[in-house]
Amino acid sequence: MNQVKDSWKEKGYVDEPIPEGIDLKAEIRRMCREKNAIILAHYYTDGVLQDLADFVGDSLALAQQAARTDASIIVMCGVHFMGETNKVLCPDKTVLVPDLNATCSLAESCPAEAFKAFVEAHPDHEVISYVNTSAAVKALTDVVVTSTNAKRIVDSFPQDAKLIFGPDRNLGSYINSVTGRQMLLWDGACHVHERFSVEKLVALMKEHPGAKVLAHPECKGAVVKLADVVASTAGLLHYAQQAEADTFLVVTESGILHEMQKTCPDKTFIPVPPDDSTCGCNECQFMRLCTLEKVYNTLRYEWPAIEVPADVAARAIRPIERMLALS
Ligand code: 13P
Repeated sequence: MNQVKDSWKEKGYVDEPIPEGIDLKAEIRRMCREKNAIILAHYYTDGVLQDLADFVGDSLALAQQAARTDASIIVMCGVHFMGETNKVLCPDKTVLVPDLNATCSLAESCPAEAFKAFVEAHPDHEVISYVNTSAAVKALTDVVVTSTNAKRIVDSFPQDAKLIFGPDRNLGSYINSVTGRQMLLWDGACHVHERFSVEKLVALMKEHPGAKVLAHPECKGAVVKLADVVASTAGLLHYAQQAEADTFLVVTESGILHEMQKTCPDKTFIPVPPDDSTCGCNECQFMRLCTLEKVYNTLRYEWPAIEVPADVAARAIRPIERMLALS
């Protein structure tokens, strides 16, 4: 068994064969009941997982849900930083991320040591970090934000406050533009949102002149400028549900189309393709690492569990709780 476990560790997920003929979804739900576990899923994960989850949401809603659950086990269908945030909020619970290789390019673009040097070089600045960061970066932070609450939280600082914003330069520039600030920006980005191009979007806008453009603020500024709505995944979904328009060009990771289409069956959602492709599947390969089979195995073997060093968690909890209080 130890050899088997070593191979899991190397791979970062449990790859035990799944018993043949079982109803995976029913078995997962059974284990959730027996183990007092809940499944949280981000809108960017596979639709099968969104349908199976106890709760589907954007980054803020997932953190809020983790903070209030009384489950003993949280299965986080999403990427690593989401599991870490849950673990910091719920140190006594087991937080499982079905595949530890599910990293986030934005979080990876901000190594804690380099960010620490940046922060130390600006000792008179307060530090605002996007939730897409490691717990170690959050530990260097005064307040965490998500795309839902970034403007509101930045607005809570005095207008002349000196602020660092990391790691997303696109979200940071957007917040600078809507708040009239000049926050110092870390030079990071999300590889999925960076791939959207003005040319592809403009071509689709010409093809669908009545369509509303829904863009996530992690997109480049030139793309954001063309949008009718700039908001978090939950904000874009809410807009689509309320809007009178019947066609939408969606400029964010294509997983969100599942919930859009499900809740608005009579509306048309067109995913905007990445600049290097004509198909609309601008997918985050890390979000797609989470599968039904891995959720089954992670619950069955209660592995891989997220751990955050106690000293890091003790410092990371404050900016996360400050965000939750301000949301
Ligand atoms: P939201 O969930 O806040 O819309 O952000 C998207 C994202 O980048 C998730 O990693």
